Amino acid sequence: MLIAANWKAYVESADKAKKLLITAKRLAPHTKHEIMLGPPAPFLGLLALGNRSKVTFAVQDVSVTAGGAQTGEITAAAARSAGATYAIVGHSERRASGDDNAIVTQKLQHALAQGLTPILCVGERERDDGARYLTFLREEISSALAPLSQKERITIVIAYEPIWAIGKTATESITTTDLTEMVLYIRKVLSEFLPGKSSTHTRVLYGGSVEPGNAQSLAQGCGIDGFLIGHAAVDTHTFSQLVKAVNTLT
Ligand code: PGA
Repeated sequence: MLIAANWKAYVESADKAKKLLITAKRLAPHTKHEIMLGPPAPFLGLLALGNRSKVTFAVQDVSVTAGGAQTGEITAAAARSAGATYAIVGHSERRASGDDNAIVTQKLQHALAQGLTPILCVGERERDDGARYLTFLREEISSALAPLSQKERITIVIAYEPIWAIGKTATESITTTDLTEMVLYIRKVLSEFLPGKSSTHTRVLYGGSVEPGNAQSLAQGCGIDGFLIGHAAVDTHTFSQLVKAVNTLT
């Protein structure tokens, strides 16, 4: 499992960032799962440079193109140089700020070109009776993967994050039945872009109100390979509880 923490903009001080890193470093030797931290960009180098623990790091977003006259942008090369190995791309909060499928594709290509592993976020805003959300999801995945080479497609991690489930509580999150169904659907779409059995190797994460109370049931038997965790990842106690819950999986 990949236990990926997306700190969003919840963490606004170096002190807090360092405390969270210490917690992750304490947890890492006691879990067989990978713990990844996605801090706000200003803290990336502070936490990741010289890191000798098993903890890995992500940048929360990357620019569309490589460096140059682009004030305020975070390029994939800069993120990599600061210690990131993953790049979160297409998060719904970035899509809400204007990242459409075309921009998401460009960001994926930019991240891949610099050797970062993209975590491609996809997910519907709401569920409708006519199941149009499935078509929406298919389009998000297809438009992102179609322009990529086979080698690049294999590299990508998918994070299924239904927008309606983000930032709520465990009780309002997705059900295990629905998640199982969605993961099967995502793998079916992936199989159209990846030959043979290779789509079964793609890591599919779930994100949207993963908390200590639902982590274990969602991780067990729904077919996911990890979580992308927001609010529950920015409190040291809650995050520890969550990792411990995942650890109890057989
Ligand atoms: P949440 O956020 O865990 O706070 O719902 C998840 C995400 O948006 O990545």
